[in-house]
Amino acid sequence: MAMKQYRVAIVGVTGIVGQEIVKILEQRNFPLSDLHLLATDGTGGKKLYFKHRELPVTETGHDSFNGMDIAFFSAGGNISRHLVPIAIRAGAVVIDNTDIWRMEGEVPLIIPEVNPEDMASHKGIIATPTCTTTQLLVTLAPLHRVNPITRIIVVTFQSVSGAGAAAIEELTTQVRHVLDGQRAVPRVFPHQIAFNLLPEIDVFLDTGYTREERKIMDETRKILHAPELPVSATCVRVPTFIGHGEAVHVEFTHPFPPDEARQILSHSPGVKVLDDPTVNLYPQPWSVAGTDEVYVGRIHRDAAFKHGLTLWIVADNIRKGAALNAVQIAEEMIKRGWLAPGG
Ligand SMILES: NC(=O)c1ccc[n+]([C@@H]2O[C@H](COP(=O)([O-])OP(=O)(O)OC[C@H]3O[C@@H](n4cnc5c(N)ncnc54)[C@H](OP(=O)(O)O)[C@@H]3O)[C@@H](O)[C@H]2O)c1
Repeated sequence: MAMKQYRVAIVGVTGIVGQEIVKILEQRNFPLSDLHLLATDGTGGKKLYFKHRELPVTETGHDSFNGMDIAFFSAGGNISRHLVPIAIRAGAVVIDNTDIWRMEGEVPLIIPEVNPEDMASHKGIIATPTCTTTQLLVTLAPLHRVNPITRIIVVTFQSVSGAGAAAIEELTTQVRHVLDGQRAVPRVFPHQIAFNLLPEIDVFLDTGYTREERKIMDETRKILHAPELPVSATCVRVPTFIGHGEAVHVEFTHPFPPDEARQILSHSPGVKVLDDPTVNLYPQPWSVAGTDEVYVGRIHRDAAFKHGLTLWIVADNIRKGAALNAVQIAEEMIKRGWLAPGG
């Protein structure tokens, strides 16, 4: 029997996440019959290739989704807010990378390794979590299953690529300017990011947390089905290009020997343990960039929690943090027979 083929649209295809989705669909040989590339308009001059063929990029509009089976959205919240309902009406299943729909009650928020069964109730749209939530929960969910988590404290070290293509350009330019003895002018970030740290990602809320921090806290509770779980996050922008790090302090219901956690994580899907202090082995953003797994190291007993562990988690925020997770959602839907082509 011939394999089913899907017609796929990508909105925001010229952005960092959009371009990575194209690459991943090719690398994983996604079963597609048609690829529709959409951005602000086709005049950006970027050439996009799929399987050695140059494909046109066209303007995103109300008619862009006719005949599409799957639409990946990563063009910012405003575009998703306006066009996702139109794509769904046109018959596409939407996989959304923005933060607009994630906390809506009816919208499944999915990490395929963690809560794939939540997709069953979808109403045409499935959301991918914030990049930092995804790498946190790919690692913590397998531990939570055997020894329920009672508290999480996380501090993130987030690369500039998390803020889009313009932010990568800003760090590059500022590093050059500072080394040349010139002034670094901030545009994307509120202050100079070169040779600096900014504990401000997204806007500040009345609680004192930023919106990025609240996203991790709310999304973690939603994905783990633990509405009361105490989670506290501090998010810091750091002058690296790709890969987010997280220092995580977790409290469990029962004691959790670090060796047992290491053993469980070494058999968990999507996780790679890199943990040997005797040879300076632990995950680093620089070396995990461009790869698919979530990496964990520095696993040891936490001195401040009774049944606690400390972990250091790193992943490529563009791949598992966004593009790869979105493609894996589509693959999981297909595997479970929940995505009919031409439906
Ligand atoms: N970067 C990450 O790590 C990450 C992780 C998770 C989620 N996300 C989310 O994914 C989205 C995109 O992020 P990014 O980092 O890829 O940003 P980016 O590099 O700035 O790319 C933005 C994309 O959106 C397109 N776009 C902008 N305005 C548009 C419009 N009016 N109509 C159609 N397309 C439009 C741009 O097209 P043109 O080039 O034609 O202007 C471009 O393709 C954001 O919502 C972000 O929150 C990003």
